[in-house]
Amino acid sequence: MPSFAVTTPANTYTCLVQRGALSRITEFVPAKAGKLFVVTTEDVWDLHATRMLDALGTRECHTILFPGGEPRKRLSEVETMADEMLAHGADRSSLVIAFGGGIVGDLAGFLAAVFMRGIGFIQAPTTLLAQVDAAVGGKTGANLVGGKNLIGAFHQPTAVVIDPEVLGTLPEREYRAGLYEVVKTGVIRSPRLFGRLLAESADVLNLEAEIVEDIIAESVRIKAEVVSADEKESGLRRILNFGHTIGHALEAETEYSLLLHGEAVAFGMRAVTHLARDMEVLGAEDHLRILSCIDAYGPIPPLDGVKASNLMKRLVKDKKTIQGRVHFVLPVRVGETVITSDVDPAKVLRAAETALEELAA
Ligand SMILES: NC(=O)c1ccc[n+]([C@@H]2O[C@H](COP(=O)([O-])OP(=O)(O)OC[C@H]3O[C@@H](n4cnc5c(N)ncnc54)[C@H](O)[C@@H]3O)[C@@H](O)[C@H]2O)c1
Ligand SMILES: [Zn+2]
Repeated sequence: MPSFAVTTPANTYTCLVQRGALSRITEFVPAKAGKLFVVTTEDVWDLHATRMLDALGTRECHTILFPGGEPRKRLSEVETMADEMLAHGADRSSLVIAFGGGIVGDLAGFLAAVFMRGIGFIQAPTTLLAQVDAAVGGKTGANLVGGKNLIGAFHQPTAVVIDPEVLGTLPEREYRAGLYEVVKTGVIRSPRLFGRLLAESADVLNLEAEIVEDIIAESVRIKAEVVSADEKESGLRRILNFGHTIGHALEAETEYSLLLHGEAVAFGMRAVTHLARDMEVLGAEDHLRILSCIDAYGPIPPLDGVKASNLMKRLVKDKKTIQGRVHFVLPVRVGETVITSDVDPAKVLRAAETALEELAA
């Protein structure tokens, strides 16, 4: 059974990836933990409450229903949840269980980070995006009016329990959006993962149990390795931003309403793959393989009306822009990248234009 350790200066924790893993969740509740607080959304609870409640058995627990959605990923919701916890007898020994997608994970993690100055929490992610990415690594937080995820804390979970069986109820578009993050992981660090995604896309899209478990496990293995090497994103962790620099600009440009995050990343990966080719950092063969792999999980929704020049203006405003320089993660070959800020803006513009033209074609 695949399980991976994340080691940070603060703690070491396990990420378990296994069909039926939720039934084992109490193995990860520390012996000294008091009351459990499951933070979830109504849709996830309607579909999967039995799995969680059966697993928790006779443990004392209270469910906090959060309305969900990016506009509600706000500090005020964290305060509401904290009040609800207190009203239901929470204390410093209480443990939060984040049971939902990345929004629930980020918000419930932040709640755990600040409730009584920090209590434990378990991530039990239910979207593919949260399973392969958001739940691992301890980034928690909420949105400000001025931008996404601008308030938050690093707070590593006590454990991450990943059960691929819950993905059966996920809307297909959400599933594909998560797969783009898996493609990202393959491109940056795993030729084996990339090879399976390219050759076996039909099985992946059909949710064949064995391959789904394997691609999640490989993604989590890599995320765990990268976070363990660089928790606070000062070095290696930045490779996880492949496709994200242009992706974030596109999300902002389309007002966070047209695209799912993974879809914006897919566009960003296409653009930056063109950029790497144009800069002669990436060879012709891998250029085509990366584009084909992204396309296998498409389509990216149409982007009529989006202008490459507007994306360029957004790029410099990205929160990861360091001293005015935009950093790009460029693929060198499948499994290897280089990070550089030494990029001709005209080439970035051309790469974004090419990616937009291809979508329109
Ligand atoms: N902390 C990190 O490192 C990190 C990394 C990437 C993304 N994120 C954050 O994650 C969020 C996006 O997460 P997401 O894509 O999971 O979106 P989400 O949390 O909004 O979930 C998508 C939708 O699917 C529903 N859902 C969840 N599980 C389901 C299931 N098993 N069956 C049916 N429906 C289900 C949710 O209720 C929601 O409506 C963003 O806010 C982003 O900032 C955080
Ligand atoms: Zn992402």
